[in-house]
Amino acid sequence: MTLDVMKYAINRITNTTPELGQPKKEEELRKLVGETITAEGIGGEHAFHLFKDVLVKATVPIDHPRHLAFVPASPTRAAIMFDLVTSASSIHGAYWMEGAGGIFCENEAMKWLVSLTGLPEGAFGVFTSGGTAANLSAMVTAREYWRRNPDNLNKKALVITSEGAHSSIKAMAKVIDADVLLVATEDLMTAKDLQDKIDQLDVHQRKRLFAVVATGGTTNAGIIDELDGIANICEQENLWFHVDAAYGGGALVTDSVRHLFNGIEKADSITIDPHKWLFSPYDCGAVIYKNMKLAKAAHSQEGSYLEIFKDEGASGFNPADYQIQLTRRIRGLPLWFSLATHGTDKYKWAVEMGIKLANLAGELIEDREHLELVRKPSLSCVLFRRKGWSPDDYRNWTYKNHRDGFALVTPTKWIKNDKAETVARFCFINPDTTIEDIAAILTTMEE
Ligand SMILES: Cc1ncc(COP(=O)(O)O)c(C=O)c1O
Repeated sequence: MTLDVMKYAINRITNTTPELGQPKKEEELRKLVGETITAEGIGGEHAFHLFKDVLVKATVPIDHPRHLAFVPASPTRAAIMFDLVTSASSIHGAYWMEGAGGIFCENEAMKWLVSLTGLPEGAFGVFTSGGTAANLSAMVTAREYWRRNPDNLNKKALVITSEGAHSSIKAMAKVIDADVLLVATEDLMTAKDLQDKIDQLDVHQRKRLFAVVATGGTTNAGIIDELDGIANICEQENLWFHVDAAYGGGALVTDSVRHLFNGIEKADSITIDPHKWLFSPYDCGAVIYKNMKLAKAAHSQEGSYLEIFKDEGASGFNPADYQIQLTRRIRGLPLWFSLATHGTDKYKWAVEMGIKLANLAGELIEDREHLELVRKPSLSCVLFRRKGWSPDDYRNWTYKNHRDGFALVTPTKWIKNDKAETVARFCFINPDTTIEDIAAILTTMEE
């Protein structure tokens, strides 16, 4: 069994163009595999066959070079192999006392990540289950800091972000029971947009405002807000400044677009997802804080059975103190191993490749009569239209390419002047995607 599983894992990670699976209805899948959880068990061999022959074929591999929907992923083989090692090592990742060696590795990777942001000495972070958990952890820290002022204890908090911000910001605001005000733009949020929004608040709303969330690479279009100007306003107005760079944060490693993130070094907290553009397997997000003490004050859990883990003898970095989870996987370990294996220059090359592919796609689109760019490619996102197509045409095109096992490219909406237009979207992550892949996908729009 062990050898079978290892063989499967090795075959899968050496296959750079895995079959683009198709979802099936639950009833269909049940008919195909039967009951799998029984009193006696069906046996590992049979269960594994069902997974390999049926179930995995009803999934879409996110690392396929023509999977350009969503924010795809392309974990390195080194990282995936170390994901197996992470599980096999059974390390509890909450406290140094149990996880020291593993947490040490995570922290080495985190040091590099923090160095990319330019945050001052003392800034640090911790790996989370993803961008949503990182955004939530940062917002809880910000809100708790704001509530240190007794005047704010009974006020409902208010956060400003933009329409281009990720849905998780709005969803996590619900979790902390904060209201959200949106700057009405899907394009970049400027410092002026933010100042205007603040100036429009009534006295009571202004007292409830505790944070601003800017985006370092919108999910839909790769747009980076005017971080430097927004940072200055947050400083003047005494507001927490969070940058959600869950997707775009990988681009901090580049030479070509790093300048677009200027101002990120003034953030109070930052989200970066290694499982997006830093080639880690799911799931791996990261939250980084300028002042770790504030995160600790917000998140450290108390309990008589936990006291020993905070004891002097066990002293060290306790990841549980800085984000919402207690028991946690050492999920930064695959990133550490991959970084150690390949070196950071290779990461720079791979991220630059995503940006290059987006620019090349832009040129190919401009060269084709029936296509046009909606806006210039930004980071690794490209929005473009097929002249004359209705939303149904985009949908049918997506389904056909997927049904044919050829590509997964999906439409999105682009909102301008209050009008939402359905358009096509590419998001490049996998450096193995080729210009031929892109050209072949564009050709399917001619039919
Ligand atoms: C900008 C941004 N923030 C947050 C998230 C949420 O991250 P996750 O899906 O890892 O929770 C995403 C996901 O695409 C994102 O692009």
